[in-house]
Formats: sequence, C-alpha cells, structure tokens
Amino acid sequence: HGTSKVNDKGHLEIGGVDTVEMISEFGTPVYVYDVALIRERARGFRKTFEKLGVNSQVAYASKAFSTIAMIQLAEQEGLSLDVVSGGELYTALCAKFPVKRIHFHGNNKSREELLMALEYEIGCIVVDNFYELNLLDELCKEKQAKMDILLRVTPGIEAHTHDYILTGQEDSKFGFDLQNGQADTAVKKALDSENLNLLGIHCHIGSQIFETTGFILAARKIFAKLHEWSNTYRFASEVLNLGGGFGIRYTEEDAPIPAAQYVEEIILEVKEQAQAFNMKVPEIWIEPGRSLVGDAGTTLYQIGSRKEVPNVRNYLAVDGGMSDNIRPALYEAKYEAILANRPLDQVEETVSIAGKCCESGDMLIWDLPLPKAGQNDILAVFCTGAYGYSMANNYNRIPRPPVVFVEDGQAQLVVRRETFDDIVHLDVPLMEQIKK
Ligand code: LLP
Repeated sequence: HGTSKVNDKGHLEIGGVDTVEMISEFGTPVYVYDVALIRERARGFRKTFEKLGVNSQVAYASKAFSTIAMIQLAEQEGLSLDVVSGGELYTALCAKFPVKRIHFHGNNKSREELLMALEYEIGCIVVDNFYELNLLDELCKEKQAKMDILLRVTPGIEAHTHDYILTGQEDSKFGFDLQNGQADTAVKKALDSENLNLLGIHCHIGSQIFETTGFILAARKIFAKLHEWSNTYRFASEVLNLGGGFGIRYTEEDAPIPAAQYVEEIILEVKEQAQAFNMKVPEIWIEPGRSLVGDAGTTLYQIGSRKEVPNVRNYLAVDGGMSDNIRPALYEAKYEAILANRPLDQVEETVSIAGKCCESGDMLIWDLPLPKAGQNDILAVFCTGAYGYSMANNYNRIPRPPVVFVEDGQAQLVVRRETFDDIVHLDVPLMEQIKK
C-alpha cells in the first residue's frame, strides 16, 4: 500500500527509499513514515468536505503521533490540530502551528494547561466536565480573556471496538451525558458565561470503528438536542465536531470502509438532520488520528534469537517490542509483517514474533507465516504509524527508536534515537548524607 513496493534489489522500498540500505544509516528498530501516504489521507478527508460544499475543519488528533515534523506536515496539508495535554500543545507551539487551528481536549486539564491555552490564544477548548467549565470561566475572568469552547457530550453510543478504546457510551469518564440532563445544564451554563463563547458540540464515540452507523446515530441524538436547545436557549450551534475513530486495515481480518465514505455519509446525515429540523447546517469538524498516520508507519526490526518449543511453537525475537509498540500487549492488537530484505521469498514456517522485554506478554505477532528467518533478516511490521511511537516507553530502560520520514527517494530523520544518556538524563543520584 502507499508507496511501498519491492524494488529491483528485491528489497522492501518505501517512499523511494530502500529499507535495507536505510537501516545501515539509522539502525534498528526504526519507525519509517511514508509521507506521501499521510498527505494523500489528509487530502482525501479535505476533498470530500469540499466536494459536498460543507464548511469544515479536519483536526489531526496528534495523540496518534505527535512530533514537530509531523505537526509541520499537518500544517502543510491544511489540517487543524487536536491536542490533549500541555506537552502536545507545547509540541504544536514548537512547530509554529497556527494557534487558531488548535483545539484542546482532555478530561482533566490542569489550571496550568488551561492558562497555557489562554496565553497562546488557541482556537478552542473542548470542555469535558463541570469542574473544567467552572475553572475555565474563572481563569478567563481573571485574565480578562474570552475563549471559544465546544462542549463534549457523551451520546450513549456503543461503537463496536475494544473496550479500552470505546468512549461514547454512557458509562465513560468523558463528557457531559446527553440523556440525563448534564449536557443541558452545561449548555445553559456556557451560554450564561460572559467569558466563554459556546461554538458548538463535540462527541467522540470510539476508535478503530469500521462502520458509519455509530456516527450517524450520534449525529441524530445530538441534533434532537440542538433542536431543543435552539428553542429553550436560542442556541444555534455553529460547529458540530464528530470526533475521530475511523478504522484502518491492520490485517486481512479488518474491513474498514474508505475514510472518504465515512465523511460523505456523515455529511449527508448532518445535512438531512439540519433540514429536518429547519436549522442551519453547522460547520462539521472531525478529528482523525489513526486514519491519517496509521498505515503510513512501518517499524523495521533486526531479527535476533530463536527459540523452538517442539510440537508447539517457534519464537523469533526482534530488537524491540512492547517498548516501541505496546498495542499487542495492551489491546491484543494484530499486525502483519514481512522480511524487508527478501519480501518475495517463499513462506516456509509459522513463527511468533517476540519482543525483547522481560515480560511474557511482550509478543508482537502470533503465528506469522514467514520464510525461515534468522539474524540476517529485517522484519518490517506494517501499520505502526498511530499509537506506536506516541505510546512508546522506556520499559527495561530500552531507548526509544528514531523516526524517519521518507518521500520521493529521500529519508529524513525527524526524531533521533534515544541514547543511554537520555535514559539516565532525569535521574538524580543519592545525596551524600543518605549514601551508605
Ligand atoms: N478525538 C478524540 C476526542 C479522541 O479521544 C481520539 C482518540 C481521537 C479523536 C482520535 O481517534 P482515532 O481517529 O485515532 O481513532 N491508544 C489507542 C487509541 C486511543 C484513542 C483515544 N482517543 C490505540 O492504540 O488503539
């Protein structure tokens, strides 16, 4: 997919760059991003909105993969940006991302984070709960600032996905409940505030979703409420943000509909609802993370040790694991992989790919069909672009891999590899007095 292909040397090539040659420069493990594919995905979303003539913002959910270079790329492609912490906001500011196109999310933003958002005058804050609504109101008053906000509501939709990444159902830590009056109270409070400008409503129903039904149902539930609020509070929502969550294909088992189709169906539904209630079509905002960067990322590993458990299973270990990709351990996420140095060789066995962390659960892929592979082989694991680097960690004090962008035959290092010095960088040795 994307610009990936097998080149004349019989190696996996991405973005016109030979992956085998690349690792002699960057080492392994390494995350490689197909920049052209990210651009294509971004343009796909934007074009669909343009085609259907709806005002929109496509905000990249930077939690999926936040680095300065990625945020610059998002800016080049005319995306807006969703940040969920001071750290993600700081990254966006370092990338000089236009502040008005930054949206700030999170269920427990701190006073400092909110002040940072006010100080840099970002586009809007997506308010999650009453505590935050009050705190933000207070801070705005103190700073004599006015802030555009969206209210995040929980529409009570259960999207079919892994329990941990499901967020739109009633029993969730996120948002104002739409059914039990919380959302009504929040809208009233926001409208009554002199410091807050209620732009509209936000919801996010989950992640890695394969069908549009959930989005459509959420839009309907919200519209019923918008209609009510336009009568009771004379509130006309300028914006309807339906979140992210568009699924991608990790393995053959996954059958997501094309991203453009999600958007098209959502737009048509919103238009229909607006017409039915005789309301203006609001701006539609979405927040894709995974579907913009997920399949653009590939992780390259060096294969190392092998363990055979006779009549049971063969294990092949790589030089990374749950420290660079925690998704298999956390969500039982599935991936596909090939040998980057000889992708066309005959499959000879089924092996399970183990990581190098001291934990039995550190298995990247179970039962992968591969040629008989060993120490001279490079394993390419596909679709690691979302929530790979961003959830990477230093478990076992393993340095995090570098990130390389490839496009048009050029490779650019955008995050360097961590060193052992980086690993101990924050450590403070014992003071003299308590040394034994
Ligand atoms: N908007 C909001 C409010 C969100 O909470 C999320 C994801 C997104 C947008 C982007 O969702 P996406 O388009 O990427 O599905 N770590 C998990 C995914 C957690 C998603 C959390 N929220 C994983 O690795 O699958």
